[in-house]
Amino acid sequence: TTKIILDSDPGIDDAAAISVALNNPEFDVQLISTVAGNVMVDKTTKNALKLVRFFNKDVLVAGGAEQPLIKPFEDAARVHGESGMPGYDFGPEPTDIPRNNAVEELYRVIMAAKEPITLVPTGSYTNIALLFKQHPEVKANIKEIVAMGGAIGMGNMTSAAEFNVFTDPHAAEIMYQSGVPIVMVGLDATMKALLTQETLAKIATLGKSGEMLAAIFRHYYEGHEDGIPMHDVNTLAYLLHPEFYRTEDYWIDVQTDGPAIGETVADIRGAYHDGKTNAKVCVDIDADAFNQWFIDEVAQMKA
Ligand code: BDR
Ligand code: CA
Repeated sequence: TTKIILDSDPGIDDAAAISVALNNPEFDVQLISTVAGNVMVDKTTKNALKLVRFFNKDVLVAGGAEQPLIKPFEDAARVHGESGMPGYDFGPEPTDIPRNNAVEELYRVIMAAKEPITLVPTGSYTNIALLFKQHPEVKANIKEIVAMGGAIGMGNMTSAAEFNVFTDPHAAEIMYQSGVPIVMVGLDATMKALLTQETLAKIATLGKSGEMLAAIFRHYYEGHEDGIPMHDVNTLAYLLHPEFYRTEDYWIDVQTDGPAIGETVADIRGAYHDGKTNAKVCVDIDADAFNQWFIDEVAQMKA
């Protein structure tokens, strides 16, 4: 099994990623920390709590950053709905929402782990940047960061920037300069890993978990007639099946200013960083294998 920490902003595709991680016995989820992103942090934290309860798991949820390090916060509720997880009744709203304990819990869990742990951020990287600033010693106990975000090609917020990096580019810069091994699971791969209409229809038939996911995915259909992207789920697919992905090693810098703010710049020619690299970048994916794998994951979920 792989010990992982999910740092996320659920969010429809984050919810799918959390569902996979909580149900696949290959993953030992040590902590779910939340961050402001798709919706404000109290909502992303509530959504994480709802999922842990939905799957009857005993996994700690910690509440993280309310806003990016420097840039003003802008949510994506128009994509993910006002709640961040629309279209399904998860029962009573969780009370006792943990607030502002993510950095301390990340620190505690990472330092307590006997072996280096894998960090899986699927929101903006604000908590991780704060953690690295306040407790740099954690870096030695992180095996790798498999992060959804960024793009070498076209962005999805601006022409240049992907949403997670656009939300907190300064945090992304700190993460990419940290020296911790990083796998960048960005739009270059995730926009090719679309769930087809057939996959979506199949998922809806797979018990209570399938119904829940199909219900929240419905909100994503608009504008995605060719199939819906499952950005965040790709981090876990990569961990289980790296063979689905084609990767290239590059140095990634992050634009923190100007018209390309939030862009992840890959030093493809190796000219700026003398051929040194700081990330493995997913540039392509076997979409059919991804669809089949996702169906199998949902089929084994137990709510
Ligand atoms: C990323 O942005 C968010 O809206 C999704 O949850 C995903 O993490 C895709 O750009
Ligand atoms: Ca996300």
